[in-house]
Amino acid sequence: MMIDHDDTQDRTARDILARLASRRSCRDFEDVEIPRPVLAEILADGIEAPSSCNHQNWHFIVVTDPERRRLARRISGGNHHFEQCSALVYLTFQKGWTHGNFSIVQSVAGACYHMMLSAHLRGYDCIWNAGIGDHAALREMLTLPPIYELQGALAIGKARPSAPAMKAPRRPAEEVVSWETFSRPAASIYPARPADDYPFFAISNTANPFAEWNPRNWTWDQIADFRGYAVWAKSPLAGVYVSRRQGEAQEAEHALIPAGQCGTVVEVMPWGGTSTVRLRERLPQADLHVAELSEGNISFIRERMRREMPDVPVPGFDLMVGPSLPYEAGSVDCVILPQVLEHMPDPEAVLAEVARVLAPGGTVIASIRNMESAYGTLWSDEESRAQIPNQGPFTPIPAATVRDWIAGHFDIEEEYGIGIEATSDATILTGDDAQTGRLYAIRGRLRPVCA
Ligand SMILES: Cc1cc2nc3c(=O)[nH]c(=O)nc-3n(C[C@H](O)[C@H](O)[C@H](O)COP(=O)(O)O)c2cc1C
Repeated sequence: MMIDHDDTQDRTARDILARLASRRSCRDFEDVEIPRPVLAEILADGIEAPSSCNHQNWHFIVVTDPERRRLARRISGGNHHFEQCSALVYLTFQKGWTHGNFSIVQSVAGACYHMMLSAHLRGYDCIWNAGIGDHAALREMLTLPPIYELQGALAIGKARPSAPAMKAPRRPAEEVVSWETFSRPAASIYPARPADDYPFFAISNTANPFAEWNPRNWTWDQIADFRGYAVWAKSPLAGVYVSRRQGEAQEAEHALIPAGQCGTVVEVMPWGGTSTVRLRERLPQADLHVAELSEGNISFIRERMRREMPDVPVPGFDLMVGPSLPYEAGSVDCVILPQVLEHMPDPEAVLAEVARVLAPGGTVIASIRNMESAYGTLWSDEESRAQIPNQGPFTPIPAATVRDWIAGHFDIEEEYGIGIEATSDATILTGDDAQTGRLYAIRGRLRPVCA
């Protein structure tokens, strides 16, 4: 028997569902106070959520005191919004009941989302953070008894009028929903090292024996899919994704760009746009283009640049399909590959494409994470044992290999290593040491084709 009554025929229900769907995370709050009775109502809405065995073993600690929020921000590391927001709701539960199937964790999550929806319907904004910083320091701040576990925090406040008014892209339902049995498009199932079984507790963020870091074992479509959604782990705010580990290295990479470079300049796969911002500053007169694999990256970088450089024209954005660069042969003056060859399933094919699209005498500038360096050792011994980062899988490449690839199409004009240490420093290494730096940077000029 089919039930044809659908409450969503009701306009009110449809309107509410549409409003719920318009919720988006906010990481840029105004400093306003939400009245305590309103906060209490949001919390009360949250505890209408279902809970495993109805134990309701959750406990929510609402932090509004500005000093304590400042401390919460300090403990969290980079979460400015912990201080800006009006209230931080720490999500905790008592350990010892309904651990199986993560039921207690699922219960707290249900309550947290219910609070987000309540806050949203009341005109407030939220961000749910699992990354809250050092739990020991937070326990002390919150006077949390040892039998309670800390799961995350919900920041509630009022978005600044200038906060990005964009929601992170969603996968189409057909991709993440299948009927009766499992089926899913291949591009959205990511490679893992072959194994008979993948036991949940054999995997953690920092130690994942199944993580497939070699991009040659991913397809272009899988890489495009992963990077385009994962870049939205943060909001497209000014200054986002500036890496402390990278230090001053980006300046050194861009120093290879010929002074006064103009014409058409293409930056390939800059993911979150950190390097694009610096390029736009460095090359005000160039016709700058970004070639990316996913609309998710393109919309993120475009919005980020609108906020970070409101008075400067945003670059052109062009979608790459696999290794193909979307430009006519001989139409580009300079191509920049900022630490991306090591992210590609087929970097040799992309370099052939670079040679195709460059105009006679055009320039390529590539930098890579160098396997033959202190960083390469750190990557092999530690980093590559963790889960794949949001930028996508990568494997550092020996500088000598990249030099050979570049030399296959281009005359090498300049090359150097950047950084002696495994992270942070930007020492320039030349001569015999050029291939020993954390990064290897090289500039080549398209070799004239002999008639
Ligand atoms: C369990 C959970 C933990 C999250 N942790 C963080 C976090 O630590 N930091 C952060 O910036 N965003 C965090 N988020 C927010 C997600 O990045 C965000 O929900 C996602 O990108 C979708 O965007 P939307 O909420 O705007 O729809 C978390 C979300 C969930 C559900």
